[in-house]
Amino acid sequence: MKPSTSLFFHLFLLLLPHLPSAVHALKKAPVDDDDLDMHYYARTCPSFEAIVGSKIAHWHSVDPTLSPSLLRLLFHDCAVRGCDASILLNNPGGERKSPAAATLRGFQVIDDIKAELEKKCPKTVSCADILVAAARDATYKIGGPYWENVYGRKDGRVSIARETEAIPRGRESITDLIVFFESLGLDILDLVVLSGAHTIGRSTCGAIQYRLYNYTGVPGKCDPSINPKYLNYLKRKCRSAYTYVDLDAATPAKFDNVYFKNLKSKMGLLETDQLLLADSRTGPLVSALVSQRNVFEHQFAKSMKNLADTMVLEGHEGEVRTNCNFVNKY
Ligand code: HEM
Ligand SMILES: *[C@@H]1O[C@H](CO)[C@@H](O)[C@H](O)[C@H]1NC(C)=O
Repeated sequence: MKPSTSLFFHLFLLLLPHLPSAVHALKKAPVDDDDLDMHYYARTCPSFEAIVGSKIAHWHSVDPTLSPSLLRLLFHDCAVRGCDASILLNNPGGERKSPAAATLRGFQVIDDIKAELEKKCPKTVSCADILVAAARDATYKIGGPYWENVYGRKDGRVSIARETEAIPRGRESITDLIVFFESLGLDILDLVVLSGAHTIGRSTCGAIQYRLYNYTGVPGKCDPSINPKYLNYLKRKCRSAYTYVDLDAATPAKFDNVYFKNLKSKMGLLETDQLLLADSRTGPLVSALVSQRNVFEHQFAKSMKNLADTMVLEGHEGEVRTNCNFVNKY
């Protein structure tokens, strides 16, 4: 067996005791990436991935907190109208101007990569593909897995702020999350594994203060599913809505499976993080991943590729922007 096959088989065995929910989770949604190709830029821009790689290394050394932000930026792109760089369009009324985008970061990194690519291979590499390559390299840079991407996405011409209201913000039910991921062609395994991205990066306290002081709209009430010591820490840390707090309190700067271990200790930062353990559809997967770092990293790579395949524009369905912030004028 090839290593990848054997790992996947391993995951399957691991999940056997948790049937049937786990088997349901393992059924993959069909992925439509017929025209995307690993070698898409081999002739037209052979230095594409090298340029992205060196820019990510540069920005990571300038500010390592940008790497998690780039991973999240890809999620927010793919979550609305698919992976079409609609999040990057900087027009009034666009996704980027929505409340959901208020804490997104890393736009300057994409602009820097694009500027370099326009010098080396003008009008060739789409902003959507840059986001996909940047998220992969940023993940690898912080100790995550590496995977091969397929390329050939085109950039969309439409971006509507209101459409970002569908993106989960941490206060949803697991059913809501499952339905939302299904709408992207992603299944329950993808949901659990991609939530593991919260093993790195930060949240603003504004996203979770209601869990500390005003749970279910009752003043003074806190979410009983938070570990008391962690609750104490969060109450001290999160006086201001604009303070940053690590998503993984134990190993914030390391891409590992400690995020899932935290859930076992009632130390999930977002309400939706903690609910993944409590829900019967996702809990068994969380439990399996707690003890299997290799399986997590292997499946994270697979699920990221699934995410990057979401409703991709191909051929004449879109364009290659020359500036990621604006639709082409010609
Ligand atoms: C499952 C549903 C998800 C919910 C409810 C959710 C929610 C959130 C929230 C509320 C934040 C903090 C925002 C703030 O600063 O206020 C955040 C940060 C983050 N999210 Fe998610 N997220 C989800 C899925 C994902 C996925 C699929 C990925 C990537 C594969 C991801 C990657 C990240 C990263 C890396 C950060 C930290 C960003 C930074 O440090 O700048 N999230 N998420
Ligand atoms: C508490 O929660 C309720 C319901 O979500 C909300 O209407 C109210 O504004 C919140 N109060 C504070 C002080 O945030």
